[in-house]
Amino acid sequence: MYSIAGIQSRAFGIKTTLRVQEYISKAIKNDKDKDKSAHGEMQVTGPKPVVDTVFASMPPELRVPMFPEPMRDGIMEHKWGTSDLESLDIGVTKHRIPDRISDKLAVWVVKSARRPVDLFFRNKYLHRSVMLEVVAAVPGMVGALIRHIRSLQGMRHDGGWIGHLLHEAENERMHLMTWMEIGKPVLWERALIATVQTGFFAVFSLLYMVSPRTAHRVVGYLEEEAVTSYTHFIKEIDAGRIENVAAPDVALAYWNLKPGSTLRDVVLAVRADEALHRDTNHHFSDRIAAGRESLFEDLDHTDNKPKIRY
Ligand SMILES: [Fe+2]
Ligand SMILES: [Fe+2]
Repeated sequence: MYSIAGIQSRAFGIKTTLRVQEYISKAIKNDKDKDKSAHGEMQVTGPKPVVDTVFASMPPELRVPMFPEPMRDGIMEHKWGTSDLESLDIGVTKHRIPDRISDKLAVWVVKSARRPVDLFFRNKYLHRSVMLEVVAAVPGMVGALIRHIRSLQGMRHDGGWIGHLLHEAENERMHLMTWMEIGKPVLWERALIATVQTGFFAVFSLLYMVSPRTAHRVVGYLEEEAVTSYTHFIKEIDAGRIENVAAPDVALAYWNLKPGSTLRDVVLAVRADEALHRDTNHHFSDRIAAGRESLFEDLDHTDNKPKIRY
């Protein structure tokens, strides 16, 4: 569990959060003043204080700020520096060897989708990352939505998937928010990215309804490519072709990075998240294939071990 001070110090969405907190404290102070005045403890003189009725009437549960949770355990336990991030064993070249036709198809789809992206963005890794994250934030939310509806319609538990899928979607969205602080795509790039995302959303939703096993496999391979892309991004920074600028505040807060952290540290942190998505999505696909979807059940791989290449 994180301490309240720890959560607050993350200061995610700094401008918005501070503004909300300022209004909340004003509203609370006004409430207290009203009480005191009602009990004759306070003499109200001069012009009446201005009360923002919207914030003053804020339901109590909204007065507790909620911050996006990081993906990896232990992130909030101490400030993360370059050596911590570099020492994470994420399996940079890890690859799930496809063993079904649908898995091979998933690899082919992902590799084919990569080619036009390579041609279009070339070495513009920040812009490429924006594109990647706009797309990558879709599957978790689609999977969670479909599983949520199925859980309702079937009137049964979801096996523990929905929370993880929502968390993944949120994590990907935080990657996007981070890249948007550093690289600013121009209008036509934004339009293109949004168009690609809309198409992907439609196709992925359909795929998830038809074959969630293949859908998670596609995401697993997409994440393998994401790890590779971020590895190239790090190499470009190391070669001096991309300026290693200061990490934005949103990244310092979200990954609990040490003050003075840089773009390279952020890419290391994002790549570590992608490695987790890779492993979880391949695991989800394996679970469906094994007919043991509930995360509360062990998945015994002794007979049918997934083939992993490192
Ligand atoms: Fe991502
Ligand atoms: Fe990812």
